[in-house]
Amino acid sequence: MHAGGFAKWTRRFEDERERRQAQGDPDWERGAALHPAVWASIQRFQVGEDGDGANLVGKADQAGDADYAQAVRLFVAEEQNHARLLERLLATGGVPTLTGHWTDTVFVRLRRLMGLRMELLVLMIAEVVALRYYRALRDGADDSLTSDVAGRILSDEQRHVPFHCERLHTSLAQLPRVVRRPVLVLWRLLLLAACLVVAADHGRALRRLGIGRLRFVADVMASSAEVVSAVLAPRPDAWPSPG
Ligand SMILES: [Fe+2]
Ligand SMILES: [Fe+2]
Repeated sequence: MHAGGFAKWTRRFEDERERRQAQGDPDWERGAALHPAVWASIQRFQVGEDGDGANLVGKADQAGDADYAQAVRLFVAEEQNHARLLERLLATGGVPTLTGHWTDTVFVRLRRLMGLRMELLVLMIAEVVALRYYRALRDGADDSLTSDVAGRILSDEQRHVPFHCERLHTSLAQLPRVVRRPVLVLWRLLLLAACLVVAADHGRALRRLGIGRLRFVADVMASSAEVVSAVLAPRPDAWPSPG
């Protein structure tokens, strides 16, 4: 185990928090004009961002790495900020937030039953889907406020994925070598299933954003191959440096 390996992540999250405070919020006064299908899609993603952070923090505390536990707190704060940004964006369109979709309730219940390793694998499914989604929203919304919000969230998600990869590498290293790859094969199958559900549910919105359902699924699966190799053999230099 690399003692103190997560201190650099804590620093990155802290640097980002400072940058965020200096930058201030998007200009909400600009308002946003989006297709109803895109509003409905953002509404669903907003609920997902507003996740169960306390649960993850508890497991990180039990893992016995104080630097990691601190980095997880900062990670959870970023996810809560995503939920807040999307809530404000929805408000500019007069769209209310959802109180919770049953899929999120199931997701949260399942996660509570899991250890840190399983929890991170499940969380990583959401993160990898989010990467492609927010890129589509940033590039295809044709609305400057929405692109601004989506771009901010995307750059955080681009930091979250390698952060989880690094911890998952440590967590999977505790398993016998022969099961590591099969675990990740299973993870990719679950990701594919989740991705098909998202592509079906958000298909109309994705098409408005200029990306077909199959393209969306194919892109997510392609990026997941990089995640698998990063988890098996960490290559911190292979990731774009955050900030
Ligand atoms: Fe997020
Ligand atoms: Fe994230």
